[in-house]
Amino acid sequence: ATTPAVVTVTGAAGQIGYALLFRIASGQLLGPDTPVRLRLLEVPQAVRAAEGTAMELDDCAFPLLAGIDIFDDARPAFDGANVGLLVGARPRTAGMERGDLLSANGGIFGPQGAAINAGAASDIKVLVVGNPANTNAFIAAAHAPDVPAERFTAMTRLDHNRALAQLAAQTGKPVDSIRHLTIWGNHSATQFPDLTRATVDGTPALDLVDPSWVSDTFIPTVAKRGAAIIEARGASSAASAANAAIDHIRTWVDGTPEGDWTSAGVVSDGSYGVPEGIVSSFPVTSDGTSWSIVQGLELDDDSRARLDASVAELVDEREAVRGLGLA
Ligand code: NAI
Repeated sequence: ATTPAVVTVTGAAGQIGYALLFRIASGQLLGPDTPVRLRLLEVPQAVRAAEGTAMELDDCAFPLLAGIDIFDDARPAFDGANVGLLVGARPRTAGMERGDLLSANGGIFGPQGAAINAGAASDIKVLVVGNPANTNAFIAAAHAPDVPAERFTAMTRLDHNRALAQLAAQTGKPVDSIRHLTIWGNHSATQFPDLTRATVDGTPALDLVDPSWVSDTFIPTVAKRGAAIIEARGASSAASAANAAIDHIRTWVDGTPEGDWTSAGVVSDGSYGVPEGIVSSFPVTSDGTSWSIVQGLELDDDSRARLDASVAELVDEREAVRGLGLA
C-alpha cells in the first residue's frame, strides 16, 4: 500500500474548511491512488468544532482517509506534512487598521512558517488561502529559511476561475475553450485580471469582446467578486474558495496542461519588474514539482500600469510587515 500523504489544514473548523476537508478525504486533492492523513489545526476554542467535523469525516467512510489528528499547536500539526493548506487567518473587523491586521496575521503565519521549517516533509507544498493571502505567504516563507521560498504560494486561483467564468458567459463558450488568461498582482481589489493573451477556441478573446466590457465590467467584476458574494450570500465565498484550493494543488502536483498556464501567487524572482521576494500572482506553469513564471510576455501601457498599481500595494504591505518586525 502507498504511504499516506500528510495534509495539514489550518482553520479547519471554518467555513472553507468545511467545504474543503471532505473533498480532500474523498481523493479530489491528490488523486485516487494516494491515501491521505489529515492534520487539522485550529485555535483552542474551535478544537471542539473541528472534532465534530472529524466525526462527520469518519462517518463518510472514505476509503482513502487514513486518519485524522486535531491540534491547537502548529509544531505537531505540520510535523511530516507534505501539503499545507493555510486557511485560518485573522479577518479584518470594522475599524481595524492595516497595521493591526498585519500584526494579528504575523502572529499566526510567522509561527506556522517556523513550524513548517522545523518539521514539514522535504517536499512540502504550501498554499496560503487566509487573507491577506500574498503577504501572509510572504510572512510564512520568511520564517522558513530552510524551505525553498518557491514552496510557499498564495491563492489567486479563485480569481482565475472567476475570470474564466465571466469570459465564458460573455462569449457564450465553455470554460474549457479558454486558454492563457492571467491574474497578476495581489489577491485584492487591485489585482489585474488580464485578457490580453487569452484565447477562446483559439480566437483572441479581445477580438470577441468589447474593450469597454473588459475595463468597465470584466476587470471590476472579477476584482470585486468576493464583496459581491458577501453581499448576496451574507457570508464570504467558501465552496468556491475550497474548490480553487483543490485546483491549485492539483495543478501543482499534476502539472499544467500543454499549451496553457494558470495563475498563482508565487515568490517573485524579479520577473516583469515585480521586486524579488514579493509574493505576487503571475501566469505560471507547473512541471508537477515546481511552479515557473511564464516568461517573455509583452505588457502594454495599460497592463503595465495595472500591474504596477497592484505590486505597489504588495510592496506597501511588505514594508509594513518589515516595519512591525514580522518578517
Ligand atoms: P472562517 O472565519 O469561517 O474560518 C476561519 C477559521 O480559522 C476559524 O475556524 C478560526 O478559528 C481559524 N483560525 C484562526 N486563527 C487560527 C490559527 N492561528 N490557527 C488555526 N486556525 C485558526 O473563515 P473562512 O470563510 O473559512 O475563510 C478563511 C480565510 O480565507 C479568510 O482569511 C478569508 O478571507 C480567506 N479567503 C481567501 C480567498 C482567496 O481567494 N485567497 C477566498 C475566500 C476566503
